[in-house]
Amino acid sequence: MPRSTPAPAVHDDLVLDPRDVQFDWSALPLHWIPDEPVATHVINVLHLLLPEGERWFVEVFKQALPMITDDRLREEVLGFIGQEAIHAEAHQEVLDHLLGQGLDPRPYVRQVSWLFRRVLGERPGLTAAQRRESVIERVAFVAAIEHFTAFLGNWALNSPGLDRAQADPTMLDLLRWHGAEEVEHRSVAFDLLVHLDPGYLRRVRGMLVSGPMLVHLWVRGARFMLAADPVLDGRIRPTWRDAHLNARRGLLPDLRLLARSAVRYFRPGYHPTQEGSSSQALGYLATSPAARAAAAR
Ligand SMILES: [Fe+2]
Ligand SMILES: [Fe+2]
Repeated sequence: MPRSTPAPAVHDDLVLDPRDVQFDWSALPLHWIPDEPVATHVINVLHLLLPEGERWFVEVFKQALPMITDDRLREEVLGFIGQEAIHAEAHQEVLDHLLGQGLDPRPYVRQVSWLFRRVLGERPGLTAAQRRESVIERVAFVAAIEHFTAFLGNWALNSPGLDRAQADPTMLDLLRWHGAEEVEHRSVAFDLLVHLDPGYLRRVRGMLVSGPMLVHLWVRGARFMLAADPVLDGRIRPTWRDAHLNARRGLLPDLRLLARSAVRYFRPGYHPTQEGSSSQALGYLATSPAARAAAAR
């Protein structure tokens, strides 16, 4: 018998407010962490994956909405949908800027689009029971991916190495605004999964599929960006040692911490609120230039 997950008993006051941020990318240098093309492009993989990935989250959650029988959870899911839709468009603008700088991300984005739309998209011709099963299975994938987005968001909020390296302040605000909202809404996908299916096996399967898939996409994406960079002209091929050295300097997340965090997802008593700090996330959103400008509009 699969072990079931205890129902969450936290965040009674979670109100998710989509912040309609805008960023001006006109002055963004190609290597927005100066003289650090590897770290720049490893982080740039976010821009390759998130527009298609977060649009897919939105589609899956819209399909799940009629299956929700808890009013508070439905409100949280609607707030999540609003936030992820804005995230996708914010990262899309960076992709458009990269194209203008001579780095064409479209060949890789087409592969990501195929994965999310064709492989993980809604299948036609399913019975009602099969369709429900398909939606819950994809919610389990989203819940596992959201564990990683919360980890990365928490890292972005605690990454003084990027400030020391004089990373572009607008890009830092994008990463930290998005990271803060990922920490803020980190429990929604998991709570939705538990609401639709509290079974432990479903959760485990979501992570066993999503974790390796994300690592694979990230490695391929970093290689693609470095190869497509018009200044580097294919001279740099990233290695795991590069990733390790950049992490030691605080320019990238530590992969060992990432792996340990992924293992915590398998604990029977796991809940996303055990990771990261909501008060820190809300503290950043209160000072984020983009979030403040959005609030003033
Ligand atoms: Fe997001
Ligand atoms: Fe998210």
